[in-house]
Amino acid sequence: MKILGIDIGGSALKGAPVDIRTGRLLAERLRIETPVPLSPARMAAAVAGLARQFKWRGPIGIGFPGVIHGPRILTSANLHPGFIGCNAEKLFATATGCPVALINDAAAAALAEMKFGAGRNFAGKTLLLTLGTGVGSALFYRGRLFPCELGHLPLKGRDAEKWVAASVREKKDLSWEVWGTRLGKYIRILEKILWPELIIIGGGVSAKHLKYFKYVRPRARMVPAKFLNGAGIAGAALWAAEKNG
Ligand code: BGC
Repeated sequence: MKILGIDIGGSALKGAPVDIRTGRLLAERLRIETPVPLSPARMAAAVAGLARQFKWRGPIGIGFPGVIHGPRILTSANLHPGFIGCNAEKLFATATGCPVALINDAAAAALAEMKFGAGRNFAGKTLLLTLGTGVGSALFYRGRLFPCELGHLPLKGRDAEKWVAASVREKKDLSWEVWGTRLGKYIRILEKILWPELIIIGGGVSAKHLKYFKYVRPRARMVPAKFLNGAGIAGAALWAAEKNG
């Protein structure tokens, strides 16, 4: 079974058809840059354009960087504020003419990593963090997903993601050592509360893990995401498959 997976991010949206039995992307992923935050209507047009390029007629899974309750987006920390309160399943379904299932982007990445990637066959307490424009998070335990918002934990008087996101390292031109040490401080706070047995680091920066993992020093075993930053696309498609039964 094939489902189109789309990952809406802070700087681009990316998508590809996914084989949901293997989690593999079945075509080169398409990427649409969004240098300025798109309004919901313009984002819907971009999503429809992406689906059209694949000549897509079928279910679509969409990951979005915000709190999702049912078909609605409740927060939009790094995207257009017009998404807050938006019934995005309806918006994107109307724009594409296809059934749409909506999920938080980090929760989508966690689904893909636990089913086919770095957490495969692991049933213990797992924390997945995605480091990109913001910090995404999800917990997994005995095959159950719990999306959460640990990037907004208050740290140094502001949201932790304003201190540890990969975008902060780039913007402030921090060395891998300085940024990796920051990440370590943040992760050790999370460990005090959550005690994960496994930590999976996703987002584009997971590909460069050799540069900074040595500075993080977590208690738990920490590994890079196997899908690197492709997990959001695969996971969004898996979510749509799960929802459609
Ligand atoms: C959002 C999360 C999202 C994360 C990563 C945060 O700012 O609140 O929902 O998962 O960024 O994109």
